Amino acid sequence: MTEELAELLQGARDTNAELGLTGMLLYAEGSFFQVLEGQADVVDALYDKIERDKRHDQVTLVIREPIPKPCLRFHTHSSPSSMSVAIDDFGAGYSGLNMLADFQPGQIKIDMNLVRGIERHGPRQAIVRAVV
Ligand SMILES: Cc1cc2nc3c(=O)[nH]c(=O)nc-3n(C[C@H](O)[C@H](O)[C@H](O)COP(=O)(O)O)c2cc1C
Repeated sequence: MTEELAELLQGARDTNAELGLTGMLLYAEGSFFQVLEGQADVVDALYDKIERDKRHDQVTLVIREPIPKPCLRFHTHSSPSSMSVAIDDFGAGYSGLNMLADFQPGQIKIDMNLVRGIERHGPRQAIVRAVV
């Protein structure tokens, strides 16, 4: 599954950069949440393609509206890609070290069970220090 996701992500990063699109793709517990921004007709054309993609279903358009300027474009300065990736609940379930290695996300949210009481727990401090 992570291999399939990594492949999807790489393709999306390359294509979006070519199309001048920026955005965000969040994956958590089998569901995606995506933000795409760019020229309206380019975003619409890509959305049509994504909607027809057989790798997922129940695609819902939450909001489509004009914005004065792209909000997520600044990510292109901090990473070589046009899309920022975030991993939720890092350290829990599937969201582990392999996920980190495969996706090199821009953001990780560490699972609360890993950080709870961290001020009194040396091993937890060492783990978190190693990954951030
Ligand atoms: C959740 C999800 C998000 C996707 N996001 C993008 C994206 O941002 N950019 C992109 O080019 N393809 C994205 N894709 C892949 C497209 O659906 C499609 O497979 C890809 O654009 C290649 O299409 P083509 O071979 O017909 O050109 C996404 C697919 C899924 C399932």
